[in-house]
Amino acid sequence: MAFLKGKKKDIKTIAVLTSGGDAPGMNAAVRAVVRTAIVNGLKVKGIRRGYSGLLEEDFIDMDARSVSDIIQKGGTMLYTARCPEMLHADGVEKAAYICRKHGIDGLVVIGGDGSYRGAQKLSEHGVNVVGVPGTIDLDIASSDYTIGFDTALNTAMDAIDRVRDSSTSHERCSIIEVMGRKAGHIALWCGIANGAEEILVPERYDYEEQDVIDRVNTRKKLGKKLHIIINAEGIGDSNGMAKRIEAATGLETRATIIGYIQRGGSPTCRDRVFASAMGAKAVDILVSGGANRVVCFRDGKFMDIDINEALLMQKDLDQSLWEISRKLCR
Ligand code: ADP
Ligand code: F6P
Repeated sequence: MAFLKGKKKDIKTIAVLTSGGDAPGMNAAVRAVVRTAIVNGLKVKGIRRGYSGLLEEDFIDMDARSVSDIIQKGGTMLYTARCPEMLHADGVEKAAYICRKHGIDGLVVIGGDGSYRGAQKLSEHGVNVVGVPGTIDLDIASSDYTIGFDTALNTAMDAIDRVRDSSTSHERCSIIEVMGRKAGHIALWCGIANGAEEILVPERYDYEEQDVIDRVNTRKKLGKKLHIIINAEGIGDSNGMAKRIEAATGLETRATIIGYIQRGGSPTCRDRVFASAMGAKAVDILVSGGANRVVCFRDGKFMDIDINEALLMQKDLDQSLWEISRKLCR
C-alpha cells in the first residue's frame, strides 16, 4: 500500500535519518535535506539513531536553524546506529507502521549499502524512500562517489605520510592498515597517493604472504630502504604480518592501524558540496513525485535510479587504477 504516489501536492512531511557507519559530510547532507524541504514548504522530522530511532519513535522537528553550524562538522548530528531488528520482517513492518503513524510522506535514508537494504524493505511496505550514499568505503555500486570517501582518503593519506617520515628515518618496513572491511577503495587510492610498494585489498589479494615477502626481499636487494605496505582492514592481522615479514626479511617492520580517525574530522570541500547536492536532490525527487530511488553520481552527473535496480548492481575496484598502481610500485 503506497501512501504517497506521484503528486507534488500530496507531500507535506518528510523525515531524514543517517544509518550505518558515520561519514564526514553526512551533516552537510542532512542540512541540505532540511533546507530544501523548507524551501518547498514541507515539514521535516529528523529521526535520531537511524532505524533504531525510527523503531523507538525518536523524532525531532527540524527547521532551518536546527542545521545551522553543522556543515563543517564530521559525524552526524542525528546520530547513527546499527539496528538488528530491521533484519526481521516484523521490525520492518513496525518501522513502516511508525512512518504512517507520523504522517511521513517520504523518508530520506543517508547511509551505506546495508542502510539501502533497510530502505528497500520499507519501500515494499509502502514507505516512499530515497537513499543518499553515505559511507567512507565507496562501496555503493550505484554511485561513483559516496559521502565521506574524500575526507577519509585525505585523512588516511596525511597519516600515511607521517608514518613514512618515521619509517624513512629508521629505514624500516611499515604496514599501514586503512579502513575497508569488504572493499579496498581507500587502500587503493592511498596506495597510489602515498607511493606504497604493496597494496593488499580484499578484491585482489590471494593471501600468498610468501609472495609479499619475496617482493620485499627483491626490493631490498635492489637497494630499497623504505617499504610501505597498505593493508585494507578486510585483510586484517597487520601486527602478525609485521612480525612475520620482519622474521623473513630481517627488516625492522612496524604495523600502524589508522582506525576510526578516518571516519571523523571536518569534511573536505568536495564532501561538503557533493553531500549538499545529493541531499537537495533527494528532496527534489520526493517533491516531484518520485519514490524508491537512490541518488547517485555517475559519469560526472548527479542522477537517481530505482532502489531495486541499484541494489542489484555490483562494484569492483577501478581496474585501470589498480593496473596503474602495479606499474608505479617499483
Ligand atoms: P551501512 O549502511 O553503512 O552499510 P550496515 O550494513 O551496518 O551499514 O547497515 C545499517 C543498518 O541497515 C543495519 O543495522 C540494519 O538496521 C539495516 N540493514 C542492513 N542490511 C539490511 C537488510 N538486508 N534488510 C533490512 N535492513 C538492513
Ligand atoms: O564506515 C566504514 C567502515 O569503516 C568499514 O570499513 C568497516 O567495515 C566498518 O565501517 C566498521 O564499522 P564499525 O566498527 O562501526 O562497525
